[in-house]
Amino acid sequence: MTGKRALVLGGTGMLAGCAEALVADGWHVVLPSRRYAPIPAVDHNGTGNGHRKALWVQASWSEPKALAAGAARALGGPADLLVAWVHGTERVSVLRAVAPLLAAGAPVVEVHGSASANPVGGCPEPVLAGHPTQQIVLGFLRHAGRTRWLTHQEISTGVLDGVRRALAGKPPAVHQVGEFRPVHR
Ligand SMILES: NC(=O)c1ccc[n+]([C@@H]2O[C@H](COP(=O)([O-])OP(=O)(O)OC[C@H]3O[C@@H](n4cnc5c(N)ncnc54)[C@H](OP(=O)(O)O)[C@@H]3O)[C@@H](O)[C@H]2O)c1
Repeated sequence: MTGKRALVLGGTGMLAGCAEALVADGWHVVLPSRRYAPIPAVDHNGTGNGHRKALWVQASWSEPKALAAGAARALGGPADLLVAWVHGTERVSVLRAVAPLLAAGAPVVEVHGSASANPVGGCPEPVLAGHPTQQIVLGFLRHAGRTRWLTHQEISTGVLDGVRRALAGKPPAVHQVGEFRPVHR
């Protein structure tokens, strides 16, 4: 995984470990979000003397065109991978806005919370035709008779599994990390 460009939406929160792993693997990672959050090896003003492997871009999902323009500048060329965690109401507009930034056929790894993807409602359809999409649905873990949310590390590990499947050219699929929350009656 070297010499390639990745766009990671929502990459400064629970996906920070995923972004770090991509940087460690030699990817040039672009991280649009509203607030700067340090990612190891990120050089957010581009003065890193050759160590510029990740760039944070100030942007909001509520302004998808501006987000895409800023991300395009920071990428400096077509993205070979899109990892996306974008909340439901803004997901479609943001994914469509960044579509022109992707290399032809570049894979997408999209992350869904259990609010938008579950056994009753199913998983949302991928937005970007022409970009094979691995969908990761975040669930819960059962421990000592209780359920808890996944840790950020568990989430990043599950998403990185999806990234590896995407980069290996596996067919689009939905993958569950953890379990669905049990329904209490
Ligand atoms: N089943 C599960 O285990 C599960 C599922 C979902 C969530 N969670 C938990 O819930 C916590 C909170 O979830 P969260 O959705 O806040 O995730 P998060 O990944 O912690 O943070 C959201 C990410 O998206 C960015 N973002 C949010 N709103 C944005 C906007 N309008 N424009 C641009 N970027 C935006 C944030 O950066 P900025 O705020 O700087 O913009 C950040 O990078 C998570 O940390 C996780 O622990 C667990």
